[in-house]
Amino acid sequence: MDVTSKNLVVEKAKTSRIEQIDFDHLPFGANFTDHMFVCDYKNGQWETPKIIPYQPLMMEPSASVFHYGQAVFEGMKAYKDDEGGIWLFRPDENFRRINRSGERLAMPAFPEEYFFEGLKKLLLLDQEWIKPGIGNSLYIRPFVIASQPAIIASPSQEFKFIIICSPAQSYYGGEVRVKIAEKFSRAADGGFGYTKAAGNYAGQFYPTNLAKEEGFQQVVWTDANTHEYIEEAGTMNIFIRLGDKLITCPTSDRILDGVTRKSVIALAEDRGIEVEVRPIKVVELLEGMKDGSLKEMFGSGTAAVINPILGFGYKGERYELPKVENSYAATIKKQLMDIQYNRAEDKFGWRY
Ligand code: COI
Repeated sequence: MDVTSKNLVVEKAKTSRIEQIDFDHLPFGANFTDHMFVCDYKNGQWETPKIIPYQPLMMEPSASVFHYGQAVFEGMKAYKDDEGGIWLFRPDENFRRINRSGERLAMPAFPEEYFFEGLKKLLLLDQEWIKPGIGNSLYIRPFVIASQPAIIASPSQEFKFIIICSPAQSYYGGEVRVKIAEKFSRAADGGFGYTKAAGNYAGQFYPTNLAKEEGFQQVVWTDANTHEYIEEAGTMNIFIRLGDKLITCPTSDRILDGVTRKSVIALAEDRGIEVEVRPIKVVELLEGMKDGSLKEMFGSGTAAVINPILGFGYKGERYELPKVENSYAATIKKQLMDIQYNRAEDKFGWRY
């Protein structure tokens, strides 16, 4: 082991697994780089973080996370430009959000200097895994789990903060059509829908499976009280284009404050597009289909980037969006990726 600083211990992998990876055909989140970052929380403090070879965790079956799901995560990406420079996109947003999620799940805040020093070192060690070219990236998954061996239903006193990385291309391999939720809900007022808590995702799997049986790839969640308003899609925030206006619903304690979402709003406004952040009624989509004003729907997220939604299902009916010229989704996606891959001026100061 070589101690690189008082904040970080590094143990390098003896061999690399990179040769085994087919970088032209990457299923999302299935291959992991040679190293991982791990930091334990014990006796009321975070211990010295380590970077070690990617490996299984050794944990007791009584660890709290297995019983009560006290776990939160983030999703970030690293991009390589054509000169080999490595870039992150608004990583401070992810850092703040993992601590916001953790606070709601009664977890201790993680120190900023550990996060950024660990992340930078990890990316430098595994930099060969980041391939240049638009669409290639390294998906970064920081997460925190409750590791105390204790099945009393109260907050763990021990945690692990871990970062693993996975080379990625697109999240949705093909076309995306969504089912608008009529019965199931993802989050409720006063709950923790705004966090990236593990359980927010597990709770979606069953209704999403039912939607998949009907030929949809995702569910667009509606509000738990009335099911009259659309909220988010679980892996993506949702935007609609009505006429020339771009509309997305406000964030709340039910909806994730997506980093891509807020970047899309800023980029659209910067292009002179009128953006409305307001609740969106399902009936507006139906009326927009009828009178032709619903021109586009798309989702935004770190993994999904900006993903056009080609159609939706609601109350047994299926609706196909028309083909649109000068698509907002395509234009804003290009602008966003040009910034992420250091191909365009970064006037917002988002690149890191
Ligand atoms: C992300 O976009 O990074 C997410 O966290 C969604 C994830 C469930 C793949």
